[in-house]
Amino acid sequence: MSKMDLALNVNGLTYEIKVEGTATLADVIRNEIGLTGIKLMCNEGDCGACTVLMDGRPVLSCMMLAIDAEGTEIMTIEGLADADTGELHPIQASFVERSGMQCGVCTPGMILTAKALLDENPEPDEDDVRAALSGNLCRCGNYQRITECVLFTVQEMKAGE
Ligand code: FES
Repeated sequence: MSKMDLALNVNGLTYEIKVEGTATLADVIRNEIGLTGIKLMCNEGDCGACTVLMDGRPVLSCMMLAIDAEGTEIMTIEGLADADTGELHPIQASFVERSGMQCGVCTPGMILTAKALLDENPEPDEDDVRAALSGNLCRCGNYQRITECVLFTVQEMKAGE
């Protein structure tokens, strides 16, 4: 199969690569660009592990063709910490400090989905957080702590204003 030229903006950098037209966004970012923070669990749109932000909104990168992402801005978990200082985003820091991950497979997708929620609604309540994360499955069943991590981040961000 002949390959197509693709310019993909990921974490603020443009990658010019050749991809097969059927390649998913997840596979291209993981295998061609080398950012393996995207996790693949179900690979069929059910678990949310492969979530990335596209123009700020969560999308399932296993369900999307890479060529359809051209012209958008993609953020993976590797792009979330401060690029200059390396300082973790408050949601990442909260997950580290408060045991928000167990095996870690769902963690990048959880954190990016939570970021999109807080960008849209900086003061969500527990129901809001649970609803926003409802498409992200945790095979360890760590939902209570994950929810607490996001709510703790909300409090910290409020306190820091
Ligand atoms: Fe994409 Fe499960 S790996 S939704």
